[in-house]
Amino acid sequence: MDSGNLNISMDRSTSWIPQPTEDGSFTFFSETFGETFHSTEGARAEAFVKFAKATDLPEKAARDRLYLLDVCYGLGYNTAAALETVWAVNPDCQVQLYGLEWDATVPQGAIVPPLLQSWSPDVQTVLKSLAENHICQTERLQAQLLIGDARQTIDQVIQSGFTADAIFFDPFSPRRCPQLWTVEFFRQVVRCLVQDGKLATYSRSACVRSAMLEAGLTIGTIPMSSDPHPTHEWSQGTIAAWTGTALQTLTQMEQEHLRTRAAIPYRDPTLTDSAEVILARHQEEQKTCNRESTSSWRRRWRIT
Ligand SMILES: C[S@@+](CC[C@H](N)C(=O)[O-])C[C@H]1O[C@@H](n2cnc3c(N)ncnc32)[C@H](O)[C@@H]1O
Repeated sequence: MDSGNLNISMDRSTSWIPQPTEDGSFTFFSETFGETFHSTEGARAEAFVKFAKATDLPEKAARDRLYLLDVCYGLGYNTAAALETVWAVNPDCQVQLYGLEWDATVPQGAIVPPLLQSWSPDVQTVLKSLAENHICQTERLQAQLLIGDARQTIDQVIQSGFTADAIFFDPFSPRRCPQLWTVEFFRQVVRCLVQDGKLATYSRSACVRSAMLEAGLTIGTIPMSSDPHPTHEWSQGTIAAWTGTALQTLTQMEQEHLRTRAAIPYRDPTLTDSAEVILARHQEEQKTCNRESTSSWRRRWRIT
């Protein structure tokens, strides 16, 4: 596979070393992106709260069929948490799922002890099959893992006519992996979102939110689950949907964030640029805009 588009060397030779997170579940650390794959507060909890619950899967599980798209499949936690959630409510729900992932060694690294054991036997079978064969077909699941740059593999999902009730959007952070947070990539991804579907991400960045808006979606916040919380942690992430879907309204502070320089979105007109090119283009656009600076917004809202 050609890695030229990404213009980075991936962790292909790395043997993935499980790192414990605060809820007892494990994650990996990527040397390439300089980040862990999950929140250090809890990898498993993040998958259930910010993805499965945030896309209403406990309620949607009552349906006969569900269609899921897992962008940046990684260790498969978001897929696993979704299947656990859906089948706990409705064991007969038929699920169709696509996962998009660049590095096939990541899902393979996640099907060893102690990582795999935290899931039910059925879900363990799914994760193993997807990691080893990139496909899983059972009585109640049809799933395929597409290996490659998601900016290209998304075409295959679009061409197949697949549309998702829930999209889990989980790349590394925007500064580290801007390729997957651009207006153009969101435009592609949302072609796979059904009318009442929801896309969930852990990111609350203004540049991510404005890219979603420019791609034609409306957005809502994933509120913090506990009060009080530090001022710099104003949300657990973002939900995007087509107009007409009820979402948790952004606070005044979040809305004003969208009018600052931080809200200039990333752009990648040909869906092939490297991170460096996308970041440089972004910096140029920020320099020439006359919006409020993000530091002034922070001071106004006493964000420390
Ligand atoms: C934050 S991790 C995802 C964690 C994952 N959702 C989970 O629950 O384990 C980001 C993932 O994106 C993958 N990735 C990075 N660049 C990519 C690209 N251009 N296309 C597809 N996947 C990519 C990485 O290999 C990594 O597995």
